[in-house]
Amino acid sequence: MKFDILTLFPNLFSSPFQESILGKALGKGLIQIRVINIRDFSLDPHREVDDAPYGGGAGMVMKVEPIARAIEWIKSENSSAWTIYLTPQGETLNQEIARELSTRSHLVLLCGRYEGVDERVKLFVDQEISIGDYVLTGGEFAAMVLVDVVSRLLPGVLGSDRSALEDSFSQSLLEYPQYTRPANFRGHLVPEILLSGNHSAISRWRRKEALKRTYLRRPDLLKKANLSQEDLVLLEEIQKEGVKENR
Ligand code: 6GU
Repeated sequence: MKFDILTLFPNLFSSPFQESILGKALGKGLIQIRVINIRDFSLDPHREVDDAPYGGGAGMVMKVEPIARAIEWIKSENSSAWTIYLTPQGETLNQEIARELSTRSHLVLLCGRYEGVDERVKLFVDQEISIGDYVLTGGEFAAMVLVDVVSRLLPGVLGSDRSALEDSFSQSLLEYPQYTRPANFRGHLVPEILLSGNHSAISRWRRKEALKRTYLRRPDLLKKANLSQEDLVLLEEIQKEGVKENR
């Protein structure tokens, strides 16, 4: 998968992809990331990339020409590149959108700054995506999130192929609690059953804890989840026990 990131602040991307799982994916060539400075595509003498809004008002608006030229340059290399504008006005990113995007071979991520971009930029954009209902200083952090979410879905990026399938949201349930040594931390004990070696009992306990957490924190997800007959039995137990959060 190829990512081209169009930004006015390329330095923001100098380290976040170098570490850990994405760092390894880059090293193995499973993903390629190019960070492109939109300013390099400005034609005017002062390399301006923004200007005052027509009609007046506060702030500056990113100009259409440098962005258009940058995207056209990328498209001249690969006409099937898919262009995404990161903006709070876009559709909200979720795991399903991430899965769709992970089937593409080349994503272009346009990061907005200032009060936004000239509306005509949309002539060059295939999709607008937001990462949630809050306001960032710019699209750069959203682009990082998108690269991360999509990359971990690509074959070979995660250690085991199970990890991506089993985690939260793929199955629409939150995850069960995890523990590692020590078994006793300042009097707080690891649940006995996890030390029992009884694998079927452990599986049942984990499923029940996942259901319990989802029931307590994200009941909206339970409605979408594909629950088995056994899950419904566990849920009934949970409701009878009248569970509360530990905190
Ligand atoms: Cl994509 N951009 C900005 N500026 N703020 C956001 C966002 C994007 N997604 C959520 N908030």
